[in-house]
Amino acid sequence: MADNNQLNSRDSFSSKFGVIAAAAGSAVGLGNIWRFPYVAGENGGGAFLLLNLAFILAIGVPVMLSELLIGRKAQLNIFGAFRKLAPGKPWYLVGLMGVGAAFMILSFYAVVAGWTLEYSFYALRNEFAGKSAEELSLIFDKLTGATWRPVVFMLIFMAISALIVRSGVKKGIERYTKILMPLLLVIIIGLAIRSLTLEGAYAGLEFLFRPDFSAIDANTVLEALGQAFFSLSLGMGVMATYGSYIKKSESLGQTAISVSLTDTFIAVLAGVAIFPAVFAFGIEPGAGPGLVFVTLPGIFNQMVGGYFFAVFFFVLLVIAALTSSISLLEVVVAYFVEELKMKRPVATWVAAGIMSLLGVLCALNGAIFNLFDKTSSNILLPLGGLFIVIFVGWFLGKRVVKAELEADGRVAFYFKMFVPVIRFLAPIAIALVFLNGIGLLKF
Ligand code: PFF
Repeated sequence: MADNNQLNSRDSFSSKFGVIAAAAGSAVGLGNIWRFPYVAGENGGGAFLLLNLAFILAIGVPVMLSELLIGRKAQLNIFGAFRKLAPGKPWYLVGLMGVGAAFMILSFYAVVAGWTLEYSFYALRNEFAGKSAEELSLIFDKLTGATWRPVVFMLIFMAISALIVRSGVKKGIERYTKILMPLLLVIIIGLAIRSLTLEGAYAGLEFLFRPDFSAIDANTVLEALGQAFFSLSLGMGVMATYGSYIKKSESLGQTAISVSLTDTFIAVLAGVAIFPAVFAFGIEPGAGPGLVFVTLPGIFNQMVGGYFFAVFFFVLLVIAALTSSISLLEVVVAYFVEELKMKRPVATWVAAGIMSLLGVLCALNGAIFNLFDKTSSNILLPLGGLFIVIFVGWFLGKRVVKAELEADGRVAFYFKMFVPVIRFLAPIAIALVFLNGIGLLKF
């Protein structure tokens, strides 16, 4: 009963679909549609995808389940959760690292979301029509090279995120995700179909689905791991924070699997939409963060009703980015409110204010943008994930883990498999990839 009482005093998601929609809303975002294609393009395509999928399965799903479990057990923000579950031990530092990572990620994330917002207006004004790949690429370079516009759009995006988070989890987060995400999916499917029917599309499919293992080096492997963490919103407390809002009657295992599947499906679908067009238009797959911003308008130009597709797509992408950014902001706000005893609105504006300052740096300086992007995904998130699985596997105790996994009253048949995975497979795999990636170990 104690847990129920506690739950009543905290905000919580009202339905199973609400939980999955919110967690999937966090996972699905620019990471799938902007980051996955650009990083896959820089890392050789097929082999990267294969590694990424393997990491999602062997590491992503177990880390997600571990995080949800920590949050729901503790009923607190990520920092408070570690302090409560491991009193007097330094595990709370993992929580602090997560809060730090949230600052770093939202700073550059809001910049990309700002580009997306600006692209919605371009789409509305029909600015892509009739433009070649070079001209489209010029539009992107001009936008990101400008001084005030990327900053302003980043700030607008940050303010909208803050307004939603300020009004609380249930009212804020659940409402927006339920209807709009399925709509985005429909549009991406439309894009993928058009892209696949372009002349020269096959080379893109080959690039994405035929692994070329000679393209793999230690860094590619680390990038594939980082992308798995980033895309699934893992390693920094988002899923723990959301887990703390999940009722005991919901199955955490089911949530982790549905969210991971949805997220992965959308990333692969985005790849299927992007790469055939990349090759058909003669764009360089390793073009970097601008890849989708140049490729997608090109596809819209080739579509019947492309104008409407473009407008809908960019608006929905902004919304997908919002459902992710609010989850990042929520990690920090929950920490400020519960640990530093700030009022929710104050906590929200302080967090968003600091992130905006960092965001200005990212908007104006590509090197800082890149540093934040790579450091968070490839270092902070995997490290956080490593500690999280070690904590649940070795510290929390099998009994607690089993009880939490079976709190919905059903036998968690995967429990026996879950324990060795989080005790051995996941931590060893993360550690090896990580050490190899940063050059401390050589295979
Ligand atoms: N998963 C989000 C995306 O793919 O867009 C980004 C993200 C959200 C990363 C929350 C990390 C995080 F904690």
